[in-house]
Amino acid sequence: MTEAGTVFRSEAIGTVAIIGAGLIGGGWAAFFLSRGLKVRVYDVDPDGGAKLQKVVATALADLEQLSPIASFETENLFFSHDLQTVLEGCDYVQENAPEKLDLKQALLKQVTDLTPADVVVGSSTSSFQPSELQDGGADARRIVVAHPFNPPHLLPLVEIVAGPASDPAAQEAAYRFFERLGKAPIRITREAAGHVANRMTAALWREAVNIVAQGIASVEDVDRAIRFGPGLRWAVDGPHMLYHLGGGEGGIAHYLKHLGPAQEARWRSLGTPSLTADVQRQLVEGVMAEAAGRSIGELGARRDRLLISLLKTLDADGGARKKEAAE
Ligand SMILES: NC(=O)c1ccc[n+]([C@@H]2O[C@H](COP(=O)([O-])OP(=O)(O)OC[C@H]3O[C@@H](n4cnc5c(N)ncnc54)[C@H](O)[C@@H]3O)[C@@H](O)[C@H]2O)c1
Repeated sequence: MTEAGTVFRSEAIGTVAIIGAGLIGGGWAAFFLSRGLKVRVYDVDPDGGAKLQKVVATALADLEQLSPIASFETENLFFSHDLQTVLEGCDYVQENAPEKLDLKQALLKQVTDLTPADVVVGSSTSSFQPSELQDGGADARRIVVAHPFNPPHLLPLVEIVAGPASDPAAQEAAYRFFERLGKAPIRITREAAGHVANRMTAALWREAVNIVAQGIASVEDVDRAIRFGPGLRWAVDGPHMLYHLGGGEGGIAHYLKHLGPAQEARWRSLGTPSLTADVQRQLVEGVMAEAAGRSIGELGARRDRLLISLLKTLDADGGARKKEAAE
């Protein structure tokens, strides 16, 4: 078990273990490789090794467009169906197994049993909270959620969530590790369903569905409203800072006084739709019309191409991933 006062590995992390190499684990593998780290991957899929090579090749080609990948060596990537072998010599573990609690709990227990007490284990889980992951007998103090956004090799945000039993030093070690690699980590110190960013996307999507269900606007027009309006601003600044600008010279204090009551009235008018069969049919038909025959592969490739352009633009602005205020 981890002892109190443990100094967790962070600055010296040179080898990362990836547990589960699907959509998210594969993207993580490519990202860590692109940063010159050794990556050891475990998956139960008999074709896992071949699938991983394919995902990694595509993701590395994306990453190469953002910055030259000078240090990548083919031998830095190791795949095995044996968990113990994969965990040998690893300094950090990123768990990306299917979203099933008992499966994750059992894996995390094995992982902490098989790794030294100063190795932090981050889970990519979108829906489980650290306390749930920690409830299966693993060494809870070094388990945190390290939640990425899809595609994890491109999107900078990583939500580092500590549960009540996590050692704050383990959360800090994970935070510093991702910061050093050029990600944009945030610390979440009180666990909440959906962490932080997905709570906000859920709030937005709830109203997007409500607007369609109420016949206020079509699926495509709801998407256009975000893409060509607030979505563009959100890539530049967050909602609080944007309302600071919305207050003119008086900033956020003036905004709250002037338009706060209108915001509160709008909040009271927001809907709480259910995903009934009829609402689901409207959403599916609307999205199919918007996709206009483009396959998931085509839509994903377009998303990633435009994300890369956007990230380049933001990085050109003095490193937009960094916090403006020094910590
Ligand atoms: N898909 C997303 O958009 C997204 C975004 C952020 C976080 N996540 C989280 O990432 C995690 C993985 O999601 P995904 O979308 O990559 O799923 P996925 O189904 O694409 O990949 C899961 C992988 O785990 C492997 N696997 C199955 N059983 C296993 C076991 N016992 N041990 C090890 N590996 C096993 C599968 O073979 C597969 O390769 C989930 O916790 C999910 O919540 C997903």
